[in-house]
Amino acid sequence: FMVDKGNHRHFMEKEIHEQPEVISHALSHYVDFTTNKVTTQPGIDFAAVRSLAISACGTAYLAGLTGKYWFERYARLPVEIDVASEFRYREMPLSPDQAALFISQSGETADTLASLRYCKAEGLKIGAVVNVKESTIARESDAVFPILAGPEIGVASTKAFTCQLAVLAALSVAAGRARGTVSEAEEIALVKSLIEMPRIMNRVLNAVQPQIENLARDLSRYKDVLYLGRGTSYPLALEGALKLKEISYIHAEGYAAGELKHGPIALIDENMPVIVIAPHDRFFEKTISNMQEVAARGGKIIFITDEKGAAASKLATMATIVLPNVDEIIAPMVFALPIQLLAYHTAVFMGTDVDQPRNLAKSVTVE
Ligand code: G6P
Repeated sequence: FMVDKGNHRHFMEKEIHEQPEVISHALSHYVDFTTNKVTTQPGIDFAAVRSLAISACGTAYLAGLTGKYWFERYARLPVEIDVASEFRYREMPLSPDQAALFISQSGETADTLASLRYCKAEGLKIGAVVNVKESTIARESDAVFPILAGPEIGVASTKAFTCQLAVLAALSVAAGRARGTVSEAEEIALVKSLIEMPRIMNRVLNAVQPQIENLARDLSRYKDVLYLGRGTSYPLALEGALKLKEISYIHAEGYAAGELKHGPIALIDENMPVIVIAPHDRFFEKTISNMQEVAARGGKIIFITDEKGAAASKLATMATIVLPNVDEIIAPMVFALPIQLLAYHTAVFMGTDVDQPRNLAKSVTVE
C-alpha cells in the first residue's frame, strides 16, 4: 500500500515525528493502561530459561544492546549479545534451557535469519521482535513480539528503533515479574513511566527542534564527531554515531564514556566535537568526569542531558540540549529524539539524500 510524506520533507522526518503515536500503539500491546501492569505474552517462559541470546544487525542490534541492560537489571537474566554476522559463526555453546531473541525491523535480514536457524537447530526457544509480522524471521519463531511501528521507509531507522526499545523494556519488566525479580509495586511504577513516555516525547520533539537545527548547521562543518555515553546511554552513543555517518557521511564514532582514556582521547582537539549523552542517572558523575577530560584538552562539547544534569554541570559547552527529567527506563527512548534530529538536520544541511543514503539498503537480504 501507499505511504506518503504528508507535510514532511523526508520520510525520515515524518517517521521521527510519528514516534509518540506509534510507541503508544506498540505499548498498548504489551502493557495495560488501566492497571499499569504488563500483559501476558505467550511463547517464551522467561522464568524457565537460564539465559537469553540476542542477535541482530545495525540499529536493531543497538536496540538489543540496550535490552541487555534491561533484562540483566530487571529480570536478572544473563544476556549474550552479538551482531548477527558474528553470532552465526562464532560457535557459541548453546543449550535448550536458553532462549534466543532476534530483533529485525524487516524480519528478512540474512545474517539475523541465519543466527535464528542456528539457535533453532540447537533447540532454543526462539522469539522475534519484528516490525513486519509476515516476515521470514517472524514465521520461523516460536514467539513473535511485533513492534507495531507501521511501515518505515527511511533507510536510517528511527521509529522502528524506539518501538523496539519500548517492546524490549516492557518484555524485560514482564520477564522480571515472571522471575520474581520485579515486585508488583515496581512493575506498576515502571509501566507508569512507559505509559507517560509518548506525551514526554511529544513535548521534547517540539521543544528541541529550533535549537537542534542551529546546532546541525555548526555540526555540518566538521569531519569527525565522537559520541560518548555510559549505561543505556552507551548503545545510544553508538546509535547517534551510526545515524550521523549513515545520512550525513560525517565520520562519527560512538564509545562507552569509560573507554575514552583507552584510545579516543588521543583524537580530542577543537576539530572534533564530542557529543556527551548523560541524563542525571546513576552514572552521571562518572560521565561528567569524562567530559572534564575532554574539556581539559580543548574539546568542543555538545552536552545532551536533562534539567538536573544541566544544573549539576558547570562546564562550558558548544551547546547544551536540556531534556525533561525522566525515569531511567524511558531515558533511552526520550534521548533518542535529539540524537535522531541532530543527524537528520545535519544531513539536510549537507544536502545528502536523507531517505536513500548512498550505498545503503533498507533491508540486507544477502550475506
Ligand atoms: C540495514 C538498515 C538499518 C537496519 C539494519 C537491520 O542496515 O539500513 O536501518 O537497522 O539493516 O535491518 P533489520 O530489518 O534486520 O532491522
